[in-house]
Formats: sequence, C-alpha cells, structure tokens
Amino acid sequence: MPVDISVMVNGKIYAGSVEPRQSLAGFLRDDLDLTGTHIGCEHGVCGSCTVLLGGASVRSCLMFAVQANGAEVTTVEGLGEPGAMSPLQEAFRRHHALQCGFCTPGMLTTAQAFLDENPAPEADEVREAISGNICRCTGYVPIVAAILDAAAVLRSEPASTPHHHPNAGNQP
Ligand code: FES
Ligand code: FES
Repeated sequence: MPVDISVMVNGKIYAGSVEPRQSLAGFLRDDLDLTGTHIGCEHGVCGSCTVLLGGASVRSCLMFAVQANGAEVTTVEGLGEPGAMSPLQEAFRRHHALQCGFCTPGMLTTAQAFLDENPAPEADEVREAISGNICRCTGYVPIVAAILDAAAVLRSEPASTPHHHPNAGNQP
C-alpha cells in the first residue's frame, strides 16, 4: 500500500505517496525527475547515488523513500545551477575533474558534506572522504585537486556570503 510522505528536496517540499519499497534514489529520479542522482550499483558500493540528508552524505540507493519522510534532502541539482555553479562545481570544471560524469553527482555531494565538516582538509583526508566513490575515468587526481581548490576558495569567501546549499549548518 502506498504511503504518504513529505520531503523537503533542494528547499522545496514534495508531498506524495510512494510504495514502501521505493528507494530514495528511485523516488528522486522517477517521482521528482531529479535525474542528477545517478544509480550505478544499487547496493551501496559505487557512491554515485549519494545525496545529502540533513547535510550528511547518504547513499540514496540504500534508503527507502519513506525513511526520508520529514527530512531535508539536497541533490546535486541543489548545489548549484549551470549559470550559478557552486564553488565546488566550479573547481571540478577548472580541474577537469570529470570525464563521463557518471560519478560526478555523488562525488560533489560527498565532497560538499565533507567540506562542510572539514573546511581545511589535507589531501589524504580528501582521498579518504571520497574513498567510497568509484570513478572509472579520472584516476581521482583531478578530483582531489578540485576539492582542495574548492576548500581554499570557500575559506577565502567573506563570512557573510550565504552558503550555496540549503542544508548547511543543519548538522548537530
Ligand atoms: S547506486 Fe548507490 S552506492 Fe551505487
Ligand atoms: S568521470 Fe566517469 S566515472 Fe568518474
């Protein structure tokens, strides 16, 4: 039997009914048409489906949509837009940190949650942070460089600059 849920996604509330077995990834892609969240392995291994739940990175293939009831979700679409990319997205572009782009939404959401927690990371910490995200194309070097560069850019922003993603600061 479908279950009624209400989820805040990228700052907008979506209310609707879902099958109890519908994954959060499927809900985002199929019900909300937010296809930036990619589904690769569907069992928690590749990281391509990563989204932010209350500011923390989670694998949306491993969650049921009903588990997100009442929560705040940020997908890659919520990080920035083509005309107004986030500092992290800009850094990925500058460093050519994507090729096919399949892993990129998960890399960006994972890295965003990481930088929110650790604004001045070492390269080793970045490597560890993305160690659960598989990229078949880049060899990871430009991705690590982009995340370090984005951290530097974010640190240099005036404190009054509004954060680009709506869940910033919601972590306990
Ligand atoms: S699709 Fe979710 S971790 Fe691979
Ligand atoms: S850019 Fe192709 S999988 Fe990462």
